[in-house]
Amino acid sequence: MAAAAAAAALTPATPLRFKPYSTLRFLSFYSKNPITPRLFPPLPRRPVHFQSTFHRKRCFCSVISAALQSGEVKKTEFREKKVDEMGNKVGEFRKKVKIADIKGGPDEGLNRVGQTLVVMGWVRTFRAQSSVTFLEVNDGSSLSNMQCVMNSDAEGYDQVESGLVSTGASIWVQGTLVASQGSKQKVELKVEKVVLVGKSDPSYPIQKKRVSREFLRTKAHLRPRTNTFGAVARVRNALAYSTHKFFQENGFVWISSPIITASDCEGAGEQFCVTTLIPSSREAADSPVNAIPNTKDGLIDWSQDFFGKPAFLTVSGQLNAETYATALTDVYTFGPTFRAENSNTSRHLAEFWMIEPELAFADLNDDMACATAYLQYVVRHVLDNCKEDMEFFNTWIEKGVIDRLNDVAEKDFVQLTYTDAIELLLKANKNFEFPVKWGCDLQSEHERYITEKAFNGCPVIVRDYPKEIKAFYMRENDDGRTVGAMDMLVPRVGELIGGSQREERLDYLENRLDELKLSKESYWWYLDLRRYGSVPHAGFGLGFERLVQFATGVENIRDVIPFPRTPGSAEF
Ligand code: 4AD
Ligand code: MG
Repeated sequence: MAAAAAAAALTPATPLRFKPYSTLRFLSFYSKNPITPRLFPPLPRRPVHFQSTFHRKRCFCSVISAALQSGEVKKTEFREKKVDEMGNKVGEFRKKVKIADIKGGPDEGLNRVGQTLVVMGWVRTFRAQSSVTFLEVNDGSSLSNMQCVMNSDAEGYDQVESGLVSTGASIWVQGTLVASQGSKQKVELKVEKVVLVGKSDPSYPIQKKRVSREFLRTKAHLRPRTNTFGAVARVRNALAYSTHKFFQENGFVWISSPIITASDCEGAGEQFCVTTLIPSSREAADSPVNAIPNTKDGLIDWSQDFFGKPAFLTVSGQLNAETYATALTDVYTFGPTFRAENSNTSRHLAEFWMIEPELAFADLNDDMACATAYLQYVVRHVLDNCKEDMEFFNTWIEKGVIDRLNDVAEKDFVQLTYTDAIELLLKANKNFEFPVKWGCDLQSEHERYITEKAFNGCPVIVRDYPKEIKAFYMRENDDGRTVGAMDMLVPRVGELIGGSQREERLDYLENRLDELKLSKESYWWYLDLRRYGSVPHAGFGLGFERLVQFATGVENIRDVIPFPRTPGSAEF
C-alpha cells in the first residue's frame, strides 16, 4: 500500500513511540478525501501461548488460616508444594491453584489426574446419596464448579453429615483429582479432607432454584455468587484489561481525569453537586434548611463552600484529557462519570464508567478509525479469552451473541451522515414514537432501527450532526450548520460511543460559547489550549457498561455493574 510505504518512510529513525499507522493518521488529516479507509487496522491476534494461565500471587488469608488451625490442618499442608517454581520470592505470599487453573486447559484437567489438590470456594449445591456425597464448589475463577465427591471416611465428613457444609458455606477441600464418571465434567476431586471455613445460615437467599434478575438486584452483595453475575464480572474484567492493553500497545498514555470539577463538559446541566454546605452524612437528616449559608440577596453563598464555588461530580473527563493530548499527543481516560439525568431506562445509570481517548493531530476520520479498531480489539479479546462465559451467555442470555460478536470483530462498520440517517428514517415504513425531522436528536428507537433493521445488526457510525443538538466543543463543519460529531450505534444498546473532532480555532470556540451563553471566564484554561500551540484533535467517549451489555447480551444496564446507582436507588 503506497500510503503505508510513505508513512513508514516518514517515520523518524529516532525511537519515537509512534507506529507507522500513527504517521498514517497524521497524513490522513491532510488528505482531501473525507472517507479515509481504516487507518487502525485490527491488531494482530494474540498468539495462542499467550492465553495460557499466568501465575498469581496472593496474600495469605489469615481468616482461612485460623479456620484451618481450628480444623487442625497445618498451614504447610495448605500451601502448594512448589510455591517457588517460577523462582519468585513469594515470602508470605503463596501460589494458590484455582478451579480455572485446574479445569481451564485444553484437556479440562485430565493432565492433572492423580495430583493431590486443594480447592477453596463456596458450596453451590449439595447432594447426598446413600454412600457418597457430591459437593459443587465454585471459587469464581470460572463458570465451572469443582465436583467434590466424598465418602464417609473423608476427614471432616462429620461436618457434612451434621449439615454444617450447606449451600453458600465456604470450605477448604483437599483430595485427589480423578477422571469423572459423570458426563458434565472430565475431572472431579475425590475428597480426603474437608474443612468448613464459614458456615452459611439457612436463610441464604441464593439457592439452586432460578431467581429473577430483579430479585437479585436486591441482593447485589450476594449476586456475584451466581453463574450470570460471575460471568458478567469476568467478562467486564476482560474488557477493562483489553481496553488498557489496546491503548497501551498503541502508544496512548492513561490520564486520571478529576472526579470533582467546576465545569460541565456536556453543558446539559445533569451534574451532581459536591458540597459541604449541607452537613456530612451523619447529621444530614437533621439539618435545617436555614443552616445553608446565603447571601443578602437570598442566594446560596457558595463562597463559604469547600471549594469556594459550586463544584460537581464530572460528567466526562474529556476537557481534562484534551489538556494532556495537547502535550502527550495520544491519551485516554478510564474512570467513573456521573449524570443526574432522571432516565429510568435499561441503558442509563447515574454512575457509570467511561473510556475517553483523545488524539492530537487527528480529525474525525481518525477518530472513527480508532473507535472501530478499539471495539474490534476488545470484542476479539473477549471471544478468545472468555470462551466458557461466552458459551454461557450464548445459551442462556442471548442466543447468537457469539456469532454477532464475531461479525463485529471481522466486518467493516457502516458510516453515514446524520442527513442520510434522517432520510433513511423518513423512508422507513415505521411509526416512531418520536417524530423524525432534520435537526431532531436521534432517540433510542431511531438508533436501534438504523443498526438493527436498516443495517442488519452491523455497527453504524453516524457523523456530522446539526450543531444545535451537540456540545459546544465540537468543530463546526464548513457548511456552518453541522459539526464534526460521530456516534457509534450498535444493536440492542443503541449509542455505544459519542465522539467528535474538537473546535481547535479560538475565534470559533469563543463565538460558540457566546452563542450558548456559556461563560468564557470559566473555560479560560480550555481556551488557553487554543491560544498556545493549538492542534486539530479528536476523541470519543464509550460507556463501559453499555460495552458490557453489548458483549454479553445482558438486557439491563443495572446487571452489568456491581452496584448500580439509578434514580431512587443507591443501596449497598
Ligand atoms: O455521548 P456522551 O455524552 O459524550 C461525552 O460525554 C463526550 N464528552 C465523550 C468524548 O467525546 N470524550 O457520552 C459518551 C458515552 C455514550 O455514548 C454512552 O455510551 C455513555 O457514554 N453514556 C452513558 N452510559 C450509561 N449511563 C448514562 N447515563 C450514560 N450517558 C452516556
Ligand atoms: Mg452522546
